[in-house]
Amino acid sequence: MRLTVHPGSFAGGRAVVPGDKSIAHRWLILAATAEGRSELQGLPSALDVKATARALARLLSPAIGSRLDGWTSNPGPTRNGDRSTRNDPRPQVAARTRFTSMLEVEGRGRVGLQPAQGPLDCGNSGTTMRLLCGVLASTPFETVLEGDASLATRPMERVAAPLRAMGARVKTDHGHAPVTVRGGTLRGIEHRSEVPSAQVKSAVLLAGLTAEDETTVLEEADTRDHMERALSNLGAPVRIEPGRVSVRAFQHPGFGAKVPGDASSAAFLVAAAALTGRALVIEGVGVNPTRTHYLQVLGRMGVRSHLEELEVELGEPVGRLEVEACDGLTGTVVDAGELPLVIDEVPILAFVAVHAVGETRFEAAADLREKESDRLGGLAEAIRALGGSAAVEGDELLVVGDGLRGGTAEARGDHRMAMAIAVSALAARAPISIDGIEAADVSFPGFVSTLASLGVRFED
Ligand code: S3P
Repeated sequence: MRLTVHPGSFAGGRAVVPGDKSIAHRWLILAATAEGRSELQGLPSALDVKATARALARLLSPAIGSRLDGWTSNPGPTRNGDRSTRNDPRPQVAARTRFTSMLEVEGRGRVGLQPAQGPLDCGNSGTTMRLLCGVLASTPFETVLEGDASLATRPMERVAAPLRAMGARVKTDHGHAPVTVRGGTLRGIEHRSEVPSAQVKSAVLLAGLTAEDETTVLEEADTRDHMERALSNLGAPVRIEPGRVSVRAFQHPGFGAKVPGDASSAAFLVAAAALTGRALVIEGVGVNPTRTHYLQVLGRMGVRSHLEELEVELGEPVGRLEVEACDGLTGTVVDAGELPLVIDEVPILAFVAVHAVGETRFEAAADLREKESDRLGGLAEAIRALGGSAAVEGDELLVVGDGLRGGTAEARGDHRMAMAIAVSALAARAPISIDGIEAADVSFPGFVSTLASLGVRFED
């Protein structure tokens, strides 16, 4: 589907965003493997999250799995249920807007998981595939995980290798999906990931919950910490130290929690405000510092923002994000240490940088080649296709702030590329059309209607 965005047409105001995709994957997995009932609110109807719910449903008894499956076809009332469609100008109303739908999962512990009939389809979702490998590393049966054409090109050995070292039998197709996992008795390992990856860390920790002895993940750079926060909150013996997380065997109980708004989805709205010099407030959003680092990068570029923590859900801070009207952007350098903390925000940061004065450099960005598309090459090409200036230099992305002329760009089936181009169009010299805008549903259902409610004008 093609969407054409008119420059300048963003009014700012107040917004809410759908629940956090990364957190939702993890809490769904923890609910399905808990001993006892869990009640989850605020799950986003994002396609990736539905892929996790569907896959888990196939590993549960039909009585339990059918609820999860039912949720994927009817995730709850859209108006009240999906925060992305409720951009109410009145703060009190927006702040109180919560999902009314609740998903109940009656877990029977990890031992309650059953063999699935046929392969599990992980769709476009790397998080689904990698985290489920961690769960299935200890289940005494064989499971095949497959995905769409994009997921089939993404590296799976980074998760297969440590799980094998723990004692699971894991087969990949030359490092790619389909991945076959036969679980076994696991022993703890100390794993240092070649690439900083929250998905690998989470998969190893999930496997570590069943292993003999301690399981440790060492990180060269910080990555999102949702798994360790949730596990600690559920009483698991997790040790968190700078650069390392360890866990010992533990069966967690059921829990109740409300998924915070997705900080990465919020980044697109923050960028829209920055590019149009408007003020914006986003309510009910996750403010976990391993997810909001992009605000520091934008801060260096001239965007002033404030985070206020108002509540905590299963260890996750939730609050309000305010962006001040800004009157100009300058380029910056995103270095190797901070890149993993903005790994999902590089597309939007690059498409903001194209409108800044001077150059912006993203260092040590090689892993962007392994995302839903080759984002390193794809970003440079898309920027150039729209009349801007960008280049890949080794493992770095260089963006020059020459602005965008306008035109048409292809989302390449990548949700973050689609949304980054759409937002960047707000500061272009002429309208921009995005082919494949529907990819946004992978993480931000209601993206277009959210922008529309904030004043953005589109042509079909
Ligand atoms: C995610 C981790 C990141 C990120 C992805 C979600 C997660 O991937 O890019 O969108 O939920 O753990 P890596 O772990 O491969 O860096």
